[in-house]
Amino acid sequence: MLTKRPRGTNDFLPEDTAKWQYVEKLLREICQQFGYAELRTPIFEETALFLRGVGDTTDIVQKEMYTFEDAGGRSITLRPENTASAVRAYVENKLFAGQQPVRLFYMGPMFRYERPQAGRFRQFHQFGVECFGADSPAADAEVIALAWEFYHRLGLQGLELNLNSVGCPKCRPAYRQALQDFLRPHLADLCPTCQERFEKNPLRILDCKNPQCQQFLQGAPTTLDSLCSECREHFSKVQAYLQAAEIPYRLNTRLVRGLDYYTNTAFEILLADIGAQSAVCGGGRYNGLVEELGGKPAPGVGFALGMERVFSALNAQGIELPKQPGLAVFVAVLDENARTQAFQLACQLRRAGLAVGYDTMERSLKAQFKYADSQGAAYTLLVGGDELARGSVILRDMQSSEQQEYPLDKVVASLQTKLAK
Ligand code: HAM
Repeated sequence: MLTKRPRGTNDFLPEDTAKWQYVEKLLREICQQFGYAELRTPIFEETALFLRGVGDTTDIVQKEMYTFEDAGGRSITLRPENTASAVRAYVENKLFAGQQPVRLFYMGPMFRYERPQAGRFRQFHQFGVECFGADSPAADAEVIALAWEFYHRLGLQGLELNLNSVGCPKCRPAYRQALQDFLRPHLADLCPTCQERFEKNPLRILDCKNPQCQQFLQGAPTTLDSLCSECREHFSKVQAYLQAAEIPYRLNTRLVRGLDYYTNTAFEILLADIGAQSAVCGGGRYNGLVEELGGKPAPGVGFALGMERVFSALNAQGIELPKQPGLAVFVAVLDENARTQAFQLACQLRRAGLAVGYDTMERSLKAQFKYADSQGAAYTLLVGGDELARGSVILRDMQSSEQQEYPLDKVVASLQTKLAK
């Protein structure tokens, strides 16, 4: 029986991975320009990290984690996101003791046991950044600007940045109370999920998609109404920085995000073109998380974007990424007794830095030409016994079909010159 890949996962074939590499390179370039350096953390962590870090009232912790016991009896979880791990690494490696802020980026697979659908997978990939140690609203605007720059450079259109502030531990209790007071008369009519959230995490009711819950929310107080003066000032400065950076945004007072750690700024970038799973990026500030995970209090802000959704968006908008270069040269074998020397020549050419194909199928010359063409080879080197006996090989320009004999010891340098042109 043929085993299939697990539900909600993908195979990315060379045609896809070429695009991934292009996008990853662009992200690395942008990070370098913004001063963000790469962090790589384990793909699995102790389960307790996510229970505390992501929050035990979240969907992620309640029903989406890939958790198992390892052979040593430890409870281990495949990371559902990477902010908790980044915070752990910041504390564990004492990055707080060095120059602040610490600007980190990461990319890699995340795992959530969700109901798979277009744009939603069980293994998906995120690129994200985290900036630790800076409480200034400029840091919030900086991470948003980084995400914005990325989509802009890809040429994506129609992105909508949604912005909100969810307050801080000082002002949120009052808001929580106001929202509960507002909703209490309708409590029995809210959907079961919202009823459950009413006590544990009432803010999440704000982004319930149920139309009836949405109706009861009309006229509900917003987090912005309850912000303390510090949060209000922080939020207005974030907006001033975004305006200065010419990044358009929409205030969305219903935006609360599905993870528990946010304080102050919360944001999402949406793109309608890609269907129901329209959030291409989400993030915000999390000033309590470092302390929650055992570190000395330190502010943090960041975001993560879904890589699969980047490619859906590029497809939906018909944006072609530049093609990766093909082979520079294909070494074709003319007759049997030239095979070893042809192989040797291919090796020499690769050592000289060229992308070189060689016939491992032992095919006819015609078939070799066909293959060389399919690989985009600009030149083919024809290696035959007679030519080798004269100390030479034939160089064929695949576009013009022109052929010329070259001395063996000059061919590497000649090819390099031709290709440099
Ligand atoms: P998140 O909103 O859970 O935030 O995920 C961020 C992005 O990852 C989403 O906007 C979406 O593009 C992508 N994504 C999430 N789940 C899936 C899925 N099942 N399939 C495909 N793509 C998905 C976080 O993970 C936070 N750690 C972001 C953050 C970083 N906040 C502060 N720093």
